[in-house]
Amino acid sequence: PQVDVSDDKVTARLPTGESVEVLLHGATVISWKSGSKGNTENLWLSEAAVLDGSKPVRGGVPVVFPVFGPPPKSGHPTSSLPQHGFARNSRWEYLGKSSTESTGDNTSENSIKLDFGLYSSALSDTFRKAWPYDFGVVYSVTLGKDSLQTMMNVRNEGKEGFEFQVLLHTYLRVKDISKCQITGLAGTTYTDKVLDAKDHSSTSPNLSITGEVDRVYKSIKQSITSVQEDGKPRFDVVRDNLEDTVVWNPWIEKAKGMSDFKPDDGYKNMLCVEVGAVDGWQKLEGGESWEGGQIMKSLL
Ligand code: BG6
Repeated sequence: PQVDVSDDKVTARLPTGESVEVLLHGATVISWKSGSKGNTENLWLSEAAVLDGSKPVRGGVPVVFPVFGPPPKSGHPTSSLPQHGFARNSRWEYLGKSSTESTGDNTSENSIKLDFGLYSSALSDTFRKAWPYDFGVVYSVTLGKDSLQTMMNVRNEGKEGFEFQVLLHTYLRVKDISKCQITGLAGTTYTDKVLDAKDHSSTSPNLSITGEVDRVYKSIKQSITSVQEDGKPRFDVVRDNLEDTVVWNPWIEKAKGMSDFKPDDGYKNMLCVEVGAVDGWQKLEGGESWEGGQIMKSLL
């Protein structure tokens, strides 16, 4: 595998053409290509996404940490952080690569892992003041033939315990949202943030997106959420030590209201399936660490 490191991003490519691009800003994966010669883009990235580090990226896989959504109004250690925390607003460090390579015909075993780090010492003064814990996060992005694995390893490097939430805010690219169905969430309780911010129970085995959707599915029993397009499997999203999944599509009006969301009808080509631990808090005592993440499979 080939890896290019520039000032602001790291790009890796397998001999068979698959590739991944990770911006150091937020350790945001902004492109993941697979398929024959690596010419299928699996992630949606807004044409107006801001990539210079002045704003979180609209698209790709932003990392949400240590709080999901608007933080609790007051009285919680995350209360003065911005929506979705500081990870997507901070510059991460590229820690290096490791690869498995096979020669000959068995190219399906090729993979490359890129590691990124974020430490309390590297945070801006504002974020460090707002969340004054000593921590280290290593985020590992592994590109395989038809898969992308993204894993978070959070370590409490201080003496005092802290609580956090984490979420991988993946914008999957689809051809036509009206032809997509999501499976693997049946029988799960979800909070519907569009309707009433209250809990509901899903009974139907499939979910179709026909308008704005913003749901937090909690304590999911199945470990795979699948997306089908036109009746054919398109993506599998496999959770690892994460129990929750947010399904989000802003639809017409909300998309128009976001200055960094372009084109206006881009909502037809994206579907956010965001795995995470966002119902309640993960607690880490001093010296402890926690790991969780996802494997996404492109099934074309
Ligand atoms: C989702 C939330 O995870 O992210 C939505 O559930 C939110 O409520 C969306 O609108 C996008 O958030 P942001 O901060 O990137 O505009």
